[in-house]
Amino acid sequence: MPGLFITLEGPEGAGKTLQAERLADALKADGHPVRLTREPGGTRLGEQIRSIVLAATQGGGAIEPVADALLFNAARAQLVAEVIRPALAAGEIVICARFADSTLAYQGYGAGVPLEELKAVEEAATGGLVPDLTILLDVPPEIGLARKADASRNRFEAAFDLEFHRRVRDGFLDLARQQPERWRVIDATRDADAVFDDVRGATTELA
Ligand code: TYD
Repeated sequence: MPGLFITLEGPEGAGKTLQAERLADALKADGHPVRLTREPGGTRLGEQIRSIVLAATQGGGAIEPVADALLFNAARAQLVAEVIRPALAAGEIVICARFADSTLAYQGYGAGVPLEELKAVEEAATGGLVPDLTILLDVPPEIGLARKADASRNRFEAAFDLEFHRRVRDGFLDLARQQPERWRVIDATRDADAVFDDVRGATTELA
């Protein structure tokens, strides 16, 4: 039996981590083999890259958007090869909090790297692996950013302005509109239980 690849996407403070955990628990309780992972991270190399790209300050220097894109894709290449493809081959349901669409939204729509360039790098990193289902937890940046305490803000939350985060959110919505068969858009401004009902509902046709 081939596995199933589900990704959760969304702007800051949308609740991806919590919803990914709840979905993993629910699918496990239904008897499915589940592998929960996240980006950037999920492997040793990926977690090292995570600590570089998310550090709140970079010693005063800015990171070029294209350098960000390459770093996220380096972590992605390792995660796909080391974790995602083997789990799918073993018939598991892989749930990943953020994946390639985050690079299109943040480094593309947000920071202005041409989408075609990003898609070429994505192809190299993923070998063409595309999620079976992508759940967009949609939340306006004003609401999402307010959910995070200052001290826990990563570089993207701390150093990029509201306009950037608006472009990211609109970018996700644009991607969802372009491929409605892959995406489900869920209003994540509501309480976590209501959001989870929709998350679970989005997966019931698949598992
Ligand atoms: P996330 O793990 O959701 O942050 P946190 O756990 O602190 O809520 O996401 C990490 C950050 O990296 C987030 O600000 C979005 C950014 N990001 C990109 O800019 N491009 C990418 O390709 C990915 C995967 C994440």
